[in-house]
Amino acid sequence: MSIRLGDVAPDFTADTTQGPVHFHEWKAGKWAILFSHPKDFTPVCTTELGAVAKLLPEFTKRNTKVIGLSVDPVESHHKWEGDIEDVTGNAVTFPMIADPDRTVSNLYDMIHPNANDTQTVRSVFVIGPDNKVKLTLTYPASTGRNFDEVLRILESLQLTASYAVSTPADWKPGEDVIIANTISDEEAATRFPKGFVTKKPYLRVTPQPNL
Ligand code: BEZ
Repeated sequence: MSIRLGDVAPDFTADTTQGPVHFHEWKAGKWAILFSHPKDFTPVCTTELGAVAKLLPEFTKRNTKVIGLSVDPVESHHKWEGDIEDVTGNAVTFPMIADPDRTVSNLYDMIHPNANDTQTVRSVFVIGPDNKVKLTLTYPASTGRNFDEVLRILESLQLTASYAVSTPADWKPGEDVIIANTISDEEAATRFPKGFVTKKPYLRVTPQPNL
């Protein structure tokens, strides 16, 4: 079954490079990023895992745990981690799920049979502290993901979870945000003391409120 925004992220127990993980327990009320790879020892995946390993301190700073998945066994993941560090210079210090029987892959609908019936697509799930799915992304095997974009999305999700705002196209942290249309001008003046500009009655922008 496909996973939709707002659904509770399915719980599971799986072997990982850091021992068995009971997903909700492991997540422990933090944000989490769960992402899949088609297969071990593949070139694009090797670069992706190096990229995530490099960004890990940024995710950790934002109260976010990271967990990868590939359909190969744990011993294979461990050997592959050596290659990832060799090639990218970044050690993989977050857990990688081993999913040879595709239990987690099927639970999260990561196998798209018309693309490939044995390997996972490149999925990303961002899951909130309430265990609900806040974002899903699906990329084909041939296209490596941009994890700076995943970090940018996380920053938007965390900001908009705390303030009545949304973030515009191509927004980057530090730039102006959009005030929710459920907020009146009077209320906006109180909630956003740095002020706001009304570009259209339905489009009011204000400096990022938590800076
Ligand atoms: C890769 O990571 O390079 C890859 C994985 C599966 C199919 C094609 C490419």
